[in-house]
Amino acid sequence: MGILYNEQAGIFKLDALDTSYVIGIFDDERFVSHLYYGKKIIDSDVRYLYGPLYQVRPSVLPGQAGRIMDAVPFEYPTFGCGDYREHCLEVETVDGYHACDLRYEAHKIYPGKPALEGLPSTFEREAGDCNTLELVCRDKVLNLGVTLLYTVFEQLNVITRAVLVTNEDSNAVYIKRVLSGCVEFDHQNFDVMTLHGSWERECGPVRTPLRQGKIVTESTRGESGPTDNPFLAVLSCDATEDTGEVFAMNLVYSGNFLGVAQGHHFRGTRIVMGINPVNFSWKLEPGDTFTAPEVVMVYSDRGLGKMSRTFHDLYRGHLIRDVYPDTSRPVLINNWEATYFGFTFDRLIEIAEEASKCGIELFVLDDGWFGDRNDETKGLGDWFVNEEKLPGGIARLSKEINKLGMKFGLWIEPEMVSPDSELFREHPDWAIQIPGRHRSLFRHQYVLDWSRREVRSHIYDMIHQVLSGANVEYIKWDMNRTLTEAASAALPADRQGELCHRYVLGVYEIMGRLREDFPSLLLENCSAGGSRFDPGVLYYSPQIWGSDDSDAIERIQIEMGASMCYPLSTIGAHVSAVPNHQTGRITPLETRGYAAMAGTFGYELNIAQMSEAEKAVIREQVDIYHKYNWIVKEGDLYRIGDPFANRDHACWMVVSRDKKEALVTYIQTHALPGYFGSARKLRLKGLMDEAVYRAEVISVSSEVVNGDAHLEGGQNAGKGREVLEVSGSALMNAGYWMERLGGDYMGMMIHLKAIV
Ligand code: GLA
Repeated sequence: MGILYNEQAGIFKLDALDTSYVIGIFDDERFVSHLYYGKKIIDSDVRYLYGPLYQVRPSVLPGQAGRIMDAVPFEYPTFGCGDYREHCLEVETVDGYHACDLRYEAHKIYPGKPALEGLPSTFEREAGDCNTLELVCRDKVLNLGVTLLYTVFEQLNVITRAVLVTNEDSNAVYIKRVLSGCVEFDHQNFDVMTLHGSWERECGPVRTPLRQGKIVTESTRGESGPTDNPFLAVLSCDATEDTGEVFAMNLVYSGNFLGVAQGHHFRGTRIVMGINPVNFSWKLEPGDTFTAPEVVMVYSDRGLGKMSRTFHDLYRGHLIRDVYPDTSRPVLINNWEATYFGFTFDRLIEIAEEASKCGIELFVLDDGWFGDRNDETKGLGDWFVNEEKLPGGIARLSKEINKLGMKFGLWIEPEMVSPDSELFREHPDWAIQIPGRHRSLFRHQYVLDWSRREVRSHIYDMIHQVLSGANVEYIKWDMNRTLTEAASAALPADRQGELCHRYVLGVYEIMGRLREDFPSLLLENCSAGGSRFDPGVLYYSPQIWGSDDSDAIERIQIEMGASMCYPLSTIGAHVSAVPNHQTGRITPLETRGYAAMAGTFGYELNIAQMSEAEKAVIREQVDIYHKYNWIVKEGDLYRIGDPFANRDHACWMVVSRDKKEALVTYIQTHALPGYFGSARKLRLKGLMDEAVYRAEVISVSSEVVNGDAHLEGGQNAGKGREVLEVSGSALMNAGYWMERLGGDYMGMMIHLKAIV
């Protein structure tokens, strides 16, 4: 059992794979304090860790001047009683008072993990995976019960947290702020890593030295958003991809969030994460419970790489419910960048026919198939097929696609409504708005009030009808704008602050229903690209479109950034046409394939207009995908060349769980002149030292330059050329020569297989 309680010492010790997390209950007043988080310690009585805390403890002992709440490391800090650092809970009484003071009351330790009502969360897959501690705390004045939930995944370096707040009083209270977790450290020797970006530039890692003050990552957009991702890590200042300590948090939530790293005035650090308190308030009636979402905490003693692999293992094993658990997901082709709104039935079939000849398995019809939607100004909300455009409807189209041996998939954007739509004309009050205030349009659309049951049911029924009338095996669920003037016509004044959270709960409810009603449906999420890329969405949807930027070179950065916490198998990535529609960049077709194979892999171009030579490359890519995708889907990711730090190359590899096979991808993003040119020796990772690997280049973007001199001491890396047989120790310590390739954006893929 990974959770120990030492009653005499008042200490809880949570042990994950090689992590310990220690909670102490101050003996007399029962404050719940945080004593340690880091590499495993073996003692069960570590009360010495209180150290000088006993002197500053928040107790009114005889002869003590007063409380110094501000110095104590709390497990779940509250507002109003003297802790001025970043807090987790703030409650307002009906009389307008703001103070809360939690003390330990009871606890439970049990095997397994409870689900969180209405919210996605990680789960136990097999009995014995995890154990849970419930710490029940209470504010006696408010009659407020706060249960802190901790689950330890014993085979991973993962502890998850969530919080239940129950009003046991006879008056309502208002929760003004309820975060999901807090961790304290007794020093500030950290850098902080967060993921930032923008539309078409999601998930860029930003590393900032911590000092006294706050580093914040947050969203107030109503979705997790493209500018900040609900991820925050503190890492030792000298931490690298492979060394140093990392403590990371990732919130399993898809709405407004807040993550803060605070270097505080007692020279310590506090990190917190949860629902963003901006425009949040929750009225808790007597007897009601509020559930705060889960925050996943990962510890790594070997840098960012191990942190990422831990997140990937957790999410693949305990969050994602893949509809293709034992096989690769189908290679898809999406018509968006091929036709935009300008498609006809025949054009779609033409694309599908060519795609099927190349082995592509799933045809996805994107935006524009419904209502009066021939451009982005109209039709959202009218989820019935446009028969003028698609005679015979989705039923006929999907049948024709199925006849080609392909599956059929469809795009929807169910949370939105166009002002120019039948739905809006009938129900103008269904769109989110503040009465008397201009309602902002983004992309010609409003957001529907999904906090209202009748609104979501109406939309879901329409979509259900489309899905029931045709063989739809995939859905791309899009969300192309953020919330503004957030208010609901259905909520009273003192509950308006609940809208954003209720909206997210509504989205989860409908995604959950969709999964239940159509269990074999593959759901891919999207929000103008990767604007809602978070673990909450991954619970319903095993893949998320990574970005509206489909340029291969840009995508490498976005994918490597997203891979900080999300598995490659979740990142929707397609080969698109050149010149690229977002950047104008021209890259080899093979390279576009390498970037897309670091994700879910598919195409988004007009294959019917491609040359025979290009179609041959596509056939080869589909073959490579089928042969090797299992490594990407299940394996361990090692980032080698950092595409953010290096102007001239990117490299990553995925190693099978048994370390017997690996797939290395190398991209020469900027060719260099000189004797060696861009040839470089890169140290591989994650292999077995003693095993001998056969390294074979299975694909190259273009002719390899055949100068001999630069190969001296290396090996031939060209496709179809001699393969290398060498030990893991050589490949990892001395490195593998990446041959000089013919110019910018060229790349190659190398397959490694242990032969001895
Ligand atoms: C968003 C998506 C795109 C595409 C369009 C359709 O921008 O990210 O992939 O589906 O909507 O309108």
